[in-house]
Amino acid sequence: MTIKAFVFDAYGTLYDVQSVASLTEAAFPGHGETITQIWRMKQLEYTWLRSLMNAYLDFWTVTQDSLVYALDVLGLDANKAAISALAQAYNHLVPFPDSVAALDAMADRRLAILSNGSPAMLTALLANSGLTERFEVVISVDAAGAYKPDPRSYGLVEAHLGVKPDEVVFVSSNGFDVAGAKRFGFRVARIARVSPSALHAEIGAATPIAPKTLFKALRMQEEHLGEAPDWTVASLGDLPALMAGL
Ligand code: LAC
Repeated sequence: MTIKAFVFDAYGTLYDVQSVASLTEAAFPGHGETITQIWRMKQLEYTWLRSLMNAYLDFWTVTQDSLVYALDVLGLDANKAAISALAQAYNHLVPFPDSVAALDAMADRRLAILSNGSPAMLTALLANSGLTERFEVVISVDAAGAYKPDPRSYGLVEAHLGVKPDEVVFVSSNGFDVAGAKRFGFRVARIARVSPSALHAEIGAATPIAPKTLFKALRMQEEHLGEAPDWTVASLGDLPALMAGL
């Protein structure tokens, strides 16, 4: 098998979506964790719903709408300017500590991103974290007008890189994205940041389940969609050695 390119998911895989929590907490003291989790869960739901409804609007709109949803359910209020300012948190996400080291170790390979993020969001995110130069291309699903896991979004990889799906290792920690990418025909490496046993222990230790634990249960485990990844590693740091020689 010859692998010609590595394509990374952005939000949740290279970048920690939980890093908005300090900003949501500062804006709405006492509600930060709940807002953070509902926001991200609803943000992804809106991508799926908009694709299914054939009503694509870009990820910047979806990110603001899902934040409004999260505030609404908590009975919190914010004007348009405050929503937009807080949504900017997604353009300032912190890369996971293992991201930069893995990208460094794989610098001699063709590296790209395929993300739901709008082109402007991704440009800002990469620039703000100093990672722009690490990637040959940063692909937004926006050009397809459909979010992952719609095959049209994954199809953008071949159009940009000129490589066939089975020559690509797609890297994601988002369960739905792992399943969608595998279904599309990529080879898939799943980054399992929360192991089942760690999750069981966390759930067992807390009643009721904290919003962050619920997020791990719903969004960070392997899906039962009949599309198992080719490789599963606990950290991006494990990827370079696993991919050496492929
Ligand atoms: C992305 C999603 C999965 O970066 O958040 O495409």
